[in-house]
Amino acid sequence: AKRFGILTSGGDCPGLNAVIRGAVLKGGTVYGHEFVGFKDGWHGLVYGDIVELNRASVRGLSHEGGTILGTSRFGPYQEPDGGPDNIKKVLKNLGIDGVIALGGEGTASASKRLFEDGINIVGVPKTIDNDIDATDYTFGFNTAVEIATEAIDRLRTTGNSHKRCMVLEVMGRHAGWIALHSGIAGGAHAILIPEQPESLDQICAWVTGVRSRGRSPMVVVAEGFKLPDMKEEYSVKGLDGFNRPRLGGIGEVLAPLIEERTGIETRSTVLGHIQRGGVPSAYDRVLATRFGMAVADLVADRAWGKMVALRGTDIVRITFDEALANPKQVPADQYQEIRVIFG
Ligand code: F6P
Repeated sequence: AKRFGILTSGGDCPGLNAVIRGAVLKGGTVYGHEFVGFKDGWHGLVYGDIVELNRASVRGLSHEGGTILGTSRFGPYQEPDGGPDNIKKVLKNLGIDGVIALGGEGTASASKRLFEDGINIVGVPKTIDNDIDATDYTFGFNTAVEIATEAIDRLRTTGNSHKRCMVLEVMGRHAGWIALHSGIAGGAHAILIPEQPESLDQICAWVTGVRSRGRSPMVVVAEGFKLPDMKEEYSVKGLDGFNRPRLGGIGEVLAPLIEERTGIETRSTVLGHIQRGGVPSAYDRVLATRFGMAVADLVADRAWGKMVALRGTDIVRITFDEALANPKQVPADQYQEIRVIFG
């Protein structure tokens, strides 16, 4: 039987286990394929660190958060013993015919390079941020939006009781999809996203407007939002090369500024990795299972260099290049559509 190896790389995401289960079940049942998992992302591939995956080992996995395989943020060319020649040897020794890489942008670009270097590899897009242009949705996004919406609902009652302005910071470094959707669902009075600049004056005008109607203002801000005059020196570079705020996140920068300007007591909450942990929503379990089954078809067809994606209600095949082409940001008209009812 043909044998394929699955890895999960980059930040984890609710639904990864459902993809693994979908691939193993369909690949095993329909094609008679065997599967192994590489532990901790590319590290497991580079060092041949594997675990057998079969019907029994994926039982009950669709509702489990995180990834049973572990993940890491390092790429196959960054590992000390990485690179295509070593990986080809590892795959040959283990009798593995191809690799299924579940991951975001970093994973897709590493996969593309490995594919061009002669490795049999396919991919599944993954990010809670929903910022991959070639797929309408990624699993994990719906779960994150549900969690952020629940947080807004909870913050609203305590905010109302104390007549405070509540600021919720959600994830989204480059794209504000989680902020936009949870903000709309939770009825936020202002939604701030990386794609759309808003001044402190404007934000405070919305906040005071809400207060003048006797309500407690609710501001949802994506972590990547910046005030026009915010300086880079407020941030430090993390191990992964991304800038992180030195003093808490943008929510914690914003809250005291709002309080100072408006005279309305303001509190901030940073939701953080709560958005990535725990059980996936039913929607994400379905999407992830469908992605998993579709990637089993990809390897059966030996369609190397391809990824699965959602277009409308259909699962389609895309290239690594298509997945990497444009990050999907919130278009200005979609933001304007909801901005008219802020405040
Ligand atoms: O890409 C997913 C994501 O959760 C982003 O929303 C967030 O900016 C980032 O990962 C956080 O990364 P880490 O888990 O490495 O802190």
